Amino acid sequence: MNTVKSVRELRAAVAQARAEGKQIAFVPTMGNLHAGHAALVEKAAQRADFVVASIFVNPLQFGPSEDLDKYPRTLIADQEKLVEAGCHLLFTPDVDEMYPHGMHGQTRVSVPVISEGLCGASRPGHFEGVATVVSKLFNMVQPDLAIFGQKDFQQLAVIRTLVRDLNMPIQIIGEPTVRADDGLALSSRNGYLSAEQRASAPVLYQSLRDMADAIRAGEYDFAKLISAAQAQHSAAGFRPDYLEVREANSLRPATGDDRQLVILVAAFSGSTRLIDNLAFELDKPV
Ligand code: PAF
Repeated sequence: MNTVKSVRELRAAVAQARAEGKQIAFVPTMGNLHAGHAALVEKAAQRADFVVASIFVNPLQFGPSEDLDKYPRTLIADQEKLVEAGCHLLFTPDVDEMYPHGMHGQTRVSVPVISEGLCGASRPGHFEGVATVVSKLFNMVQPDLAIFGQKDFQQLAVIRTLVRDLNMPIQIIGEPTVRADDGLALSSRNGYLSAEQRASAPVLYQSLRDMADAIRAGEYDFAKLISAAQAQHSAAGFRPDYLEVREANSLRPATGDDRQLVILVAAFSGSTRLIDNLAFELDKPV
């Protein structure tokens, strides 16, 4: 695996792969890779001949009081995991390479409606930062396909929308969330949890499963289900951010007529914000 830091080197390496007739798959990341990222790269290697990954902790998507400075940077370990998963080219730009004219006057990509609510409400500007950096990375790499984790469910919906609306010829693939044995969704931010916080964290996914089971069994009083689940979260030491039932494609609030549903949760354990979701289909509307 080759590691390059400049857009010029990246473009040259991708151009060579293209000249050899290869299909290009792309996996953008912020590093501190875990088994969830490895699964994305492995899927990319199954789907294309040449796999490009990027590691860039994008300042534009962090709020002023968020964890940009403490976000874990683990390049050597990440490189080993990428090689093992089948990556051919790693792009690790620094902030000046990505934003050579500074971030203040940087053109922004905003994806209205789907970015609003949920994480968009809790993290103002976050999805604009994500959409901007992903658009830049797509223009730099020009992949045939790109792979993202379904754990960031709203992010994936935002990226699908931007690719559709800006006519980018890139196939977007969502990969299922990889979980620890106790159900906790793998996340770089899990490393911030104390042993005690980590032990109670699986309650989030457990409550999503319980809610989905109840909805499947015909309970459609979502507000009642949400307040029962949030009481469980609070008892486990979480401070709720949001817990919502949405239509899985549009992300608008679910109604009794919808069949494709997703329950999305965000909650704080101490200062660590965890998110998770569970998408499921009903045989018939509730
Ligand atoms: O999901 C992430 O790791 C980031 O939001 C992404 C897509 C790499 C953009 O910085």
